Amino acid sequence: MTKPDFRPYSEFTRLCPDEMLSRAKALAVHMATRRTVREFSREPVDPAIVNHCLQVALTAPSGANQQPWTFVVVDDRAVRRQLREAAEAEEREFYNGRAPDEWLDAVAPFGTDASKPFLETAPVVICIFAQTWKSLPDGNRGKNYYVSESVGIATGLLIAALHHAGLAALTHTPSPMKFLNSILARPDNERPFLILVAGFPADDCLVPVITKRSMDEAVIHV
Ligand SMILES: Cc1cc2nc3c(=O)[nH]c(=O)nc-3n(C[C@H](O)[C@H](O)[C@H](O)COP(=O)(O)O)c2cc1C
Repeated sequence: MTKPDFRPYSEFTRLCPDEMLSRAKALAVHMATRRTVREFSREPVDPAIVNHCLQVALTAPSGANQQPWTFVVVDDRAVRRQLREAAEAEEREFYNGRAPDEWLDAVAPFGTDASKPFLETAPVVICIFAQTWKSLPDGNRGKNYYVSESVGIATGLLIAALHHAGLAALTHTPSPMKFLNSILARPDNERPFLILVAGFPADDCLVPVITKRSMDEAVIHV
């Protein structure tokens, strides 16, 4: 078994209470302006910005620090087209019969349909995979712990980082997403988690009118 190795947490910065409060409030105000966008302009995004956002995602905590994620940034036009065609084929089946009515009712307020042009036109498409197991040096399968929780947290940090950097994003989950493994040549131990599309909202972009649960509804103190 590996021996634990510890060091002082010297990069932790203790802030004064006023600074803590003002930072917490500023982030709450800023994050309240994040919305999922489904219409993107073709305007390019500096790849360095996206790389820094990905660096934020890679800082995420994960079960036993196993970091069970792969982020595939898809720039290749031909691959983008393949993604769009495969996603639209799945979505056509989904909207025209496979989806239960309850699911269709749940997504109705967002006005979505089988058309996914943003997979070709948005400047940033990141396919996120969850590593359900890992190959050990002896050839056996090793267990990864809390995979969905870990990849979800990393994705959340990425969404927050993109918003912080001034980009809009869409969390896209065509159902099912197995086509991502073949198009992107990902191994069997990687399960498609979701597709994150990012860029700038199109000039005529609209967002659905929705509400968020209030503190009183969603937060309980005991
Ligand atoms: C796991 C997950 C999957 C989602 N899948 C889709 C999707 O496939 N298509 C879509 O248009 N929106 C998708 N969304 C976006 C949600 O509809 C959106 O986050 C929700 O309506 C709240 O809106 P907001 O992000 O603007 O606050 C998804 C969001 C999450 C967290």
